[in-house]
Amino acid sequence: MLRFDRFMEEALYHPERGYYERLSSLGKAGDFYTAPAFHPLFGWTLARLVTPVLEGMEKPVVVEAGAGLGDLAAAALDFWRRFRPELYERLEYRILERSRHLQKKQRERLANHPRVQFVEALTPFEGVFWANEVLDAFPVRVFRRVPEGWKEVYVTSFCEPRVVLRDVTDPPEILRRVPDGVVQVEVAEGIPAFLRKVGRALARGMGILIDYGEEEEMLFSRYPSGTLQGYRNHRVVDPLEHPGETDITAFVNFTAVRRVLEDVGLEVEALRTQERFLFHAGIHKALELYETTFPDQAMRARLALKTLLLGFPTYRVLVFQRS
Ligand SMILES: C[S@@+](CC[C@H](N)C(=O)[O-])C[C@H]1O[C@@H](n2cnc3c(N)ncnc32)[C@H](O)[C@@H]1O
Repeated sequence: MLRFDRFMEEALYHPERGYYERLSSLGKAGDFYTAPAFHPLFGWTLARLVTPVLEGMEKPVVVEAGAGLGDLAAAALDFWRRFRPELYERLEYRILERSRHLQKKQRERLANHPRVQFVEALTPFEGVFWANEVLDAFPVRVFRRVPEGWKEVYVTSFCEPRVVLRDVTDPPEILRRVPDGVVQVEVAEGIPAFLRKVGRALARGMGILIDYGEEEEMLFSRYPSGTLQGYRNHRVVDPLEHPGETDITAFVNFTAVRRVLEDVGLEVEALRTQERFLFHAGIHKALELYETTFPDQAMRARLALKTLLLGFPTYRVLVFQRS
């Protein structure tokens, strides 16, 4: 019998059979699109946004967690090399990636960028931290409400997982706040410790977390049956289907994220939709640069802008700073 978070851990990260250990596409040929994989305009917009922060620093560092196939890093580094060569020459781009397989892919993809380093842990830095669709990939414990109260989801085995409900032995504190009518809640217990490390390492600068998620109250009201999902071939599927071949995710509780970041002394901005964030980050200016640089790809880039603004409606962005 496996508690759900242990099953998810194995299904996503097992060195041989884990989903991320075999991943080769985050686009059309894969199971889902991420914004950085969709078009470099996303990375250009982010890079352009944080450029003034980095330029004001003597030894600017960008840390990316969970870099997937390296799309965000490739686009951002390309942006700085083209438009801010002086900054490019002195910045360091650190990648913190837990999947060995993806780290290998990132090394290949970013081989032409000598500014990239792969790190196993975070050490103090000044600059920018960012992570796109990483928190939703943290294993979650799953709790279900039945007539007698809360139960926890376990599965029978890795290869033939069937749900078994068990008594909750150590109820997380969130269960005390769940309103009536909510019948499933997911809790990613690894996120607070991870974010505390990020917060403590960021000595000065800015952080950007992009993911699907919501403030806690909204999660309860919009998703009373929980947000646990499986993805395969661009379809939403049962998360227990084909372990190791299915991506398993849950929405991020951004209220919990905010509390941890504030707790380590960071100033946290209001949660924004991806659309609002990209708009304010100047995606239109990034598009102008892109069109001028690659005139033959202007039409594709314009269509990409539309999708990046409107095609990720459940995505939220949380920006934080240490000044
Ligand atoms: C859904 S993919 C997103 C990839 C990429 N950021 C993108 O948007 O295209 C999740 C990534 O986070 C990585 N990851 C998950 N948990 C992590 C952790 N605790 N530390 C570092 N990387 C992690 C996965 O291995 C994978 O690279």
